[in-house]
Amino acid sequence: MSKRILITGAAGFLGSHLCDRFLAEGHEVIGMDNLLTGHLRNIEHLFAKKEFTFYHHDVSKYVHVPGPIDYILHFASPASPIDYLKMPIQTLKVSSLGTHNLLGLAKAKGARMLVASTSEVYGDPLVHPQPEEYWGNVNPIGPRGVYDEAKRFMESITMAYHNFHGVETRIIRIFNTYGPRMRLDDGRALPTFVNQALHGEDITVFGDGSQTRSFCYVDDLVEGIYRLLLSDYHLPVNIGNPVEITLQDFAEEVLKLTGANVKIVYRPLPQDDPKQRKPDITKAKELLGWEPKVDRSEGLKRTLEYFRKHLEEVSAAEA
Ligand SMILES: NC(=O)c1ccc[n+]([C@@H]2O[C@H](COP(=O)([O-])OP(=O)(O)OC[C@H]3O[C@@H](n4cnc5c(N)ncnc54)[C@H](O)[C@@H]3O)[C@@H](O)[C@H]2O)c1
Repeated sequence: MSKRILITGAAGFLGSHLCDRFLAEGHEVIGMDNLLTGHLRNIEHLFAKKEFTFYHHDVSKYVHVPGPIDYILHFASPASPIDYLKMPIQTLKVSSLGTHNLLGLAKAKGARMLVASTSEVYGDPLVHPQPEEYWGNVNPIGPRGVYDEAKRFMESITMAYHNFHGVETRIIRIFNTYGPRMRLDDGRALPTFVNQALHGEDITVFGDGSQTRSFCYVDDLVEGIYRLLLSDYHLPVNIGNPVEITLQDFAEEVLKLTGANVKIVYRPLPQDDPKQRKPDITKAKELLGWEPKVDRSEGLKRTLEYFRKHLEEVSAAEA
């Protein structure tokens, strides 16, 4: 049966892919975004569809949506260190006040709400790989605290609305995800490496490159979100790709793929940068029958195609 779904952060990287997916499943989608870090180009292909509506709105302010709502997916928030360091107050507000506003809406409409939490709730983890039971190692007053603690608060208030008001809630802890529609200047490893390589600049690795990350292709993540939303499980679930790689090896992969004739250069590690990241996805496998399907070489190929096309469009527009 067709559902009416509110997706916040709809003009962003993940939110726009979620709009595509839920529309493709035959649902009605209301996208909401204040365009702080997102862009209308990510959803302009949806404007002609009668099942899609867009609200330009800041969810940290009171949220009003007329009519029934079945599901709310809260994906609004600056998500890359560059963005949330530039906008610390907005980052704190969107996951605290914004989440509160949306939980109030979910309660009023009898909607189920899924919140986009993050592997950052584990901070610089002392347990590896990270299972959902691990409480994390977060510096509340460090530069990343504005994001990490806001997301931890988001999880707490979501659990409180579930336990106290009986709102149906889902919490996803997303590990690094990549794919088309990431911004080239968002400061995350992949777009930065690609941007530098395609512009003939040396690739910057922070630290000695031995820190690890695990990268999940966006289609795999969206499938995990879809399954979690439809499940009956209200505790946090990790979704991410457990294949771990050092940033050094990742930079070399990108270099090879782009064919750029540039070097890798090293810069000091930013404060509180996590040394290792790898999800334990046992719960996602057992509860949702989910695991990633797209391997890194295929995911990188698709993402690089998008970045190349995007850069061509930008230079054509500037010509
Ligand atoms: N991409 C990842 O690897 C990753 C990992 C973990 C968690 N997440 C979470 O997923 C969500 C989406 O991340 P993304 O990578 O798509 O980032 P993004 O920056 O591309 O998208 C976020 C969107 O939220 C919008 N937004 C921000 N503040 C808002 C507000 N107050 N009101 C309305 N809209 C607002 C932005 O304009 C943007 O369109 C975030 O909540 C992020 O914390 C992402």
